[in-house]
Amino acid sequence: MIDKLKALQAEAAGAVAGAATLAALDDLRIHYLGRKGAVTGCLRDMGKLSAAERPAVGKAANEVKDAIEAVLAARGEALQRSERGARFAAEAVDVTRPGRRSHRGGLHPVTLVLREMLDLFVGMGYAVADGPEVETEYYNFEALNIPAHHPARDMQDTFYVAPGVVLRTHTSPVQVRVMETTRPPVKIVAPGKVYRCDADITHSPMFHQVEGLLVDEGVTFADLKGMLTAFLHSYYGPDTGVRFRPSYFPFTEPSAEVDIQCVLCGGSGCRICSGTGWLEILGCGMVDPAVYGFVGYDPERYQGFAFGMGVERIAMLKYGIGDIRLFYENDARFLSHFS
Ligand code: PHE
Repeated sequence: MIDKLKALQAEAAGAVAGAATLAALDDLRIHYLGRKGAVTGCLRDMGKLSAAERPAVGKAANEVKDAIEAVLAARGEALQRSERGARFAAEAVDVTRPGRRSHRGGLHPVTLVLREMLDLFVGMGYAVADGPEVETEYYNFEALNIPAHHPARDMQDTFYVAPGVVLRTHTSPVQVRVMETTRPPVKIVAPGKVYRCDADITHSPMFHQVEGLLVDEGVTFADLKGMLTAFLHSYYGPDTGVRFRPSYFPFTEPSAEVDIQCVLCGGSGCRICSGTGWLEILGCGMVDPAVYGFVGYDPERYQGFAFGMGVERIAMLKYGIGDIRLFYENDARFLSHFS
């Protein structure tokens, strides 16, 4: 029986040395030392031994148990150490490695162009004003000298929200709102969204305008011309040709439309400028005295000019964008050109 015990000890030592995990070690502990384990099994016939033989076998059994216990403990410690080492190695963070780059968004091209434009006007001393996008017919038309029968009020162009209430068709109503609440000198630009029932590759039902208004004593058309030329030269480059063409707006007199030399062909004529060499870029004029009547300004004392331009159009001409709808589709490939 003692020999069997010794053999069991040797076998257990071999098995323990070969155990690769703490779980396998637990299984071995149960197999050799458990209540129904191999060592206990070996002692099952102890009752058949003589009283003289029993103490020696009992002592040997205890030694074997202690010995197996000891190899289990030693192997357990070793496994624990290497398992922890492996875990630490797996969880290790190399703080010297370069970080993962996060994806950066950018401002929308309309926002970028608008900011650039406003910067130029603020640099020339203009304050920034704004007004509501849902506007009354009074501000959008009436006070701008556009009477009820005027074709500009046509239902096909104007979105009506309710009787007498429209989505503003231009930023010009801000002129009236500013003049109602301020005395001259007035020098503002008013950026914002405007709405017209119109949609093709160069027209969108919603687009952006920047309005300008300057009212003071002794203001002339030459001031308007010089200021707008300076603005267009800053924005499109000092060599860009600029021309003023007589035009008509109900709220300015005289009125003009301003063209720049075609940004694509430089004036020789191409598809973009329909062969004319020129591109229409904005509308402007001297504030019509009729408008002063609506805001209580003395037309004998004050003169002023106003201008209005489309932000998307300015951007399309600067960057050679052929379709206005690209601004509103949010295609990341388009937008990323500007970030
Ligand atoms: N409001 C005009 C338009 O939208 C532009 C304009 C503004 C013309 C100011 C003259 C003066 O077409």
